[in-house]
Amino acid sequence: MAGKAVLITGASRGIGLAVAERLAQDGYDLALVARDEARLRAAAASLAGKVRIETWVCDVADAATVDGVVAAANEAFGGIYGLVNNAGVTADGLILRMSVENWRRVIDVNLTGTFNFTRAVAPLMMRQRQGRIVNISSVIGLAGNAGQANYAASKAGVIALTKSVAKELGGRQVTVNAIAPGFVTTDMTAGLGDQTKADMLRAIPLKRFGEGRDIAGVVAFLLSPDAAWLTGQTVVCDGGMTM
Ligand code: NAI
Repeated sequence: MAGKAVLITGASRGIGLAVAERLAQDGYDLALVARDEARLRAAAASLAGKVRIETWVCDVADAATVDGVVAAANEAFGGIYGLVNNAGVTADGLILRMSVENWRRVIDVNLTGTFNFTRAVAPLMMRQRQGRIVNISSVIGLAGNAGQANYAASKAGVIALTKSVAKELGGRQVTVNAIAPGFVTTDMTAGLGDQTKADMLRAIPLKRFGEGRDIAGVVAFLLSPDAAWLTGQTVVCDGGMTM
């Protein structure tokens, strides 16, 4: 994969960092984007030496900044082969108590952030007549979840966005797919209560929570030549929790 650059959002920790580690092993050059500068620098330092790495601190919800980051990454690497829209947040609450701010922030980051990066890379991938976009959705976007109406709606939106853009860009050999992870051990899930975790574990046929590398392996496949004829799909990766 030498000479191919992949831009990963939310790459400073968790699933995004695991994806960066895996893609560095596969030989991709990496454009790493996240909001938290210190952790992003630490993540880049931990990968240094393997492949070419550039970092950009950016709020994915800010369209103007995103356009600038994509232009800079395209310039730096001489093209962008892949985009992994991974940045995401939660702001849980039952619908009766959910504030408009918490609704809006989750939609802005998870859904509009994915739109912002997708729109920014689309013209250059179309010109290249090749490209891969992988969007990180969630099983919650398929099944819904009490207390996560904002998050579920954002992740369902990502799946619909994935299918629509796959139809628009397919003629230029740009594929667009989504991954719907189940419970993965990261900072995002660290705060869940012991009872919730025990209940979830019982519902997972493979009897363990996911690790970042479980999702990274699917990302690597979707970026690889083996996935050339696969677009508009949502790959559920959740230890069998939803079937
Ligand atoms: P995390 O909280 O550990 O990491 C989130 C990353 O996104 C960080 O790098 C953070 O800097 C970045 N980020 C957040 N808001 C941002 C913004 N506005 N602009 C730029 N970067 C921003 O989360 P985790 O668990 O690694 O999740 C990654 C993705 O996977 C998210 O989209 C999440 O919704 C999704 N996911 C996670 C699951 C889990 O069980 N951990 C399950 C299903 C989906």
